[in-house]
Amino acid sequence: MKKFLALALAIFMVFALVGCSGETTTEGGGETTTEVANNEKPLVWFNRQPSNSTTGELDMEALSFNDNTYYVGFDANQGAELQGQMVLDYINNNIDGLDRNGDGIIGYVLAIGDIGHNDSIARTRGVRSALGTAVEGENGIVSDAVGTNTDGSSTVVKDGSITVGDTTYIVRELASQEMKNSSGATWDAPTAGNAISTWSASMGDQIDLVVSNNDGMGMAMFNGWSKAEGVPTFGYDANADAVAAIAEGYGGTISQHADVQAYLTLRLVRNALDGVDINTGISTADDAGNTLSEDVYYYDEASRSYYALNVAVTGENYEDFLDSTVPYAPVSNQLDATAHPTKNVWLDIYNSSDNFLSATYQPLLQKYDDLLNLNVEYIGGDGQNESNIVNRLGNPSQYDAFCINMVKTDNAASYTALLNQ
Ligand code: BGC
Ligand code: CA
Repeated sequence: MKKFLALALAIFMVFALVGCSGETTTEGGGETTTEVANNEKPLVWFNRQPSNSTTGELDMEALSFNDNTYYVGFDANQGAELQGQMVLDYINNNIDGLDRNGDGIIGYVLAIGDIGHNDSIARTRGVRSALGTAVEGENGIVSDAVGTNTDGSSTVVKDGSITVGDTTYIVRELASQEMKNSSGATWDAPTAGNAISTWSASMGDQIDLVVSNNDGMGMAMFNGWSKAEGVPTFGYDANADAVAAIAEGYGGTISQHADVQAYLTLRLVRNALDGVDINTGISTADDAGNTLSEDVYYYDEASRSYYALNVAVTGENYEDFLDSTVPYAPVSNQLDATAHPTKNVWLDIYNSSDNFLSATYQPLLQKYDDLLNLNVEYIGGDGQNESNIVNRLGNPSQYDAFCINMVKTDNAASYTALLNQ
């Protein structure tokens, strides 16, 4: 009897301890709890990594705001290398007639998204390294825009060279520009459309290739000029319209595995709110069988960042990428609503007219939020003013978690300040 009592007491104590051990157990009810302080709620930064837009240095204060803070993006360098290689392969495999004016120079123009965004910087560098036009500066390869460089005299880039068969060609970045509109929105597709009109009017058949930091701008240039001219155009993101355009002469694009990123963005929140191991349904299977394999993502502890891996999408494989909004099959199983009750999440998209985020990323998030039982409020910004978004986080106590896409990567503190109040 004594033994039984002792055992019962021991069991009782274990349960009592479990009950007290974490903030997480107070959250089980399926309703927003008021007990958790806003600055202790899960926070996932995505697509724009908190960092200094001049030096690229990570903002570790924002990235480690609390124990459940992470960044979700993709491996910018691996993707940039793939993009550069894709363009180089294209030149090697399609050299006949590529030099449109026969002057021995393969000329390209480059659309830059945002000179202060690390994804944009990496892509500019990747293309320049692959084509031999990169110049080393104090902080690595220079990623500034050249403006125009038809005579090859720029100091921001240099002329590269490429030998195919027994002919050696010069490779020249004829022009590049940050595609920022007059109100300040970056990665701006209409601005890229205007730029290609200006460039083609003055350079005409000097332009043999068009390269862009993303598909939004790439497609604006393709539709505005290069499609009709038969000039191969390369982008990034594998948006559905760009993938479809490969059949019509778009040169290729890179998938940043948005299907994996959108999953990770919401999955980390789900796990933190469930109080389970953060890698549940990621490196280890969850109770519904969702799991990611190591060939599609990795986690970097030092930057508290999950990075998806990129895949090149070209004429050879584009048919597999035509719909960019399908959840990734290995992580598309519905979670049980009893074990994973509905939670409220505040999530913003920095610019509701950004092609990639609005046409690819958000539709994916909207599918995963159902699968993960998350009630997500989507806020769309104007791409110009942080205040436009921050103003709509007036009452953080209404939400269980936050997923943030900043206008400018330097501005994390405008959000965390609200959570600290
Ligand atoms: C995407 C761009 C997008 C940008 C927004 C990048 O990762 O490739 O298309 O405009 O993120 O932050
Ligand atoms: Ca030429």
